[in-house]
Amino acid sequence: MLRIPAFRLLGRTGASRVSRLEDFSLRRYSSGALGVRDDTCDARAYFTTPIFYVNAAPHIGHLYSALLADALCRHHRLRVSSAAATRFSTGTDEHGLKIQQAAAAAGLAPSELCDRVSAQFQQLFRDADISSTDFIRTTEARHRLAVQHFWRVLKTRGLLYKGLYEGWYCASDECFLPEAKVTRQPGPSGDLCPVSLESGHPVSWTKEENYIFRLSQFREPLQRWLRGDPQAITPEPFHRAVLQWLEEELPDLSVSRRRSHLHWGIPVPGDDSQTVYVWLDALVNYLTVIGYPNAEFKSWWPTTSHIIGKDILKFHAVYWPALLLGAGMSPPHRIYVHSHWTVCGQKMSKSLGNVVDPRTCLDRYTVDGFRYFLLRQGIPSWDCDYYDEKVVKLLDSELADALGGLLNRCTAKRINPSGTYPAFCTTCFPSEPGLVGPSVRAQAEDYALVSAVATLPKQVADHYENFQIYKALEAMSSCVRQTNGFVQRHAPWKLNWESPVDAPWLGTVLHVALECLRVFGTLLQPVTPRLADKLLSRLGVSTTERGLGELYFLPRFYGHPCPFEGRRLGPETGVLFPRLDQSRARLVNVHKT
Ligand code: MSP
Repeated sequence: MLRIPAFRLLGRTGASRVSRLEDFSLRRYSSGALGVRDDTCDARAYFTTPIFYVNAAPHIGHLYSALLADALCRHHRLRVSSAAATRFSTGTDEHGLKIQQAAAAAGLAPSELCDRVSAQFQQLFRDADISSTDFIRTTEARHRLAVQHFWRVLKTRGLLYKGLYEGWYCASDECFLPEAKVTRQPGPSGDLCPVSLESGHPVSWTKEENYIFRLSQFREPLQRWLRGDPQAITPEPFHRAVLQWLEEELPDLSVSRRRSHLHWGIPVPGDDSQTVYVWLDALVNYLTVIGYPNAEFKSWWPTTSHIIGKDILKFHAVYWPALLLGAGMSPPHRIYVHSHWTVCGQKMSKSLGNVVDPRTCLDRYTVDGFRYFLLRQGIPSWDCDYYDEKVVKLLDSELADALGGLLNRCTAKRINPSGTYPAFCTTCFPSEPGLVGPSVRAQAEDYALVSAVATLPKQVADHYENFQIYKALEAMSSCVRQTNGFVQRHAPWKLNWESPVDAPWLGTVLHVALECLRVFGTLLQPVTPRLADKLLSRLGVSTTERGLGELYFLPRFYGHPCPFEGRRLGPETGVLFPRLDQSRARLVNVHKT
């Protein structure tokens, strides 16, 4: 090898011959933040989950909606320096015929049912580490105020009129349906009963005088909004679907119900004989949370991202933006849509008795394990199927074996007896690929690893931006596999700290692997916060060094000082993620020995 003094190697990274890798490092160091902070990210952001019906206990589909929002919000917080710049709301949708009927069936007053089930959602979200800043209940006084104010604004702007509504109403879905969306199915007694074509839920004929919103006026403004902002609804097929709906007729929308029929709701201002339609009531929750009608709400609206399931797309992407435009406001910034979880190939439902209880799953698979599973396997564009074996297999292979094994390999006493972050040797691993010589130990695949991990944070940020958290986790998992391959290839357990030839390379191998782990730990924080904390603490990374703006991967390779070199590893030596399938663990161990 040509003996190039260290300073020349350092000089190279900032000078004439710049490889692709170096080019990336330069951009990274000059922007100071891997390109994932400041420039591409507005500091202020407001994330919302749908508010959940309280007619039944939470299931994994509800938790999934909340987890997607939580991961997006946590990732945003990692990108911006101040957590205060983020709001994240969730809550319960407590009014309407559905709840009124569920309470009657349970022999409870509606408020009792609401208190009971709302508490279950709050407990679940606490247990699942959902980092919401606000929990709203639509039965709160602040919400009634907001809804009634919103109503008056629409009324003043001439967008509400009284008319006769005659048609189908589906209490389960809380929506009005045209004849074309209704079919007949045999009911429990064998007679044909009218049901919603889309959801299969029973519908009933309604004829009453209601307040009607001039929705038909908003067809073109909605089309202009969506055509002008192709990312308004993500993933793209849902954006296309909404534009398709807007090609069809858009009739005016009934926005109140007769109070004698629906008493469990907010009275229409100035007309006690009518109750506000529960969807108008529910959608306004997004404004109540940010202080509407007080002017403070304007600093959070419309920098809003709604996370919703595909079944409630029309309410959020047609009715809600139209109502907002009607009230003189802008549509939300983003609507992120996800598909549904089925169980062993079937829709999850109380009547089928196949509802998966998220509490049991959190207990069985741990909070981080179950969060990881849902976000890694859930694909927003299509429905995903749940079964227990899939969870065990995924968590054992990716968290226990691959990630946990990697950490163990780099921190175990016999391989890292000093318990520190060893030094990186630029002679063993020069920043310039392709050099040969007796001291150069790095191979082509090692440069590929460094390149993959260096670009990972940006890749992950792009996946979050496109609402493809599963792809972000897939990319991370692939890098973890590559890092394990790196360790396997150089077998540090065969190198000797006492040997002056081995020692610098042994330190370098461990240093590179620990740096990769530091990147994985940082990037995993939005999905598995507890596990990431354990991992980063074990690496000795302090809480102020865990943001994306601070994530300078392998600085010594790029000719910069590394603050971790020589640092003591954290004291916690426990298993990162325990294997779930212990029988296989034993088999694997027998095989190894
Ligand atoms: N209350 C309305 C939302 C009003 S928002 C202004 C509602 N509530 S819900 O409890 O029925 O659903 C809440 C969320 O859970 C929705 O995003 C819905 O898509 C989601 N899920 C319900 N079942 C689901 C699955 N099986 N799988 C994934 N998500 C599912 O709608």
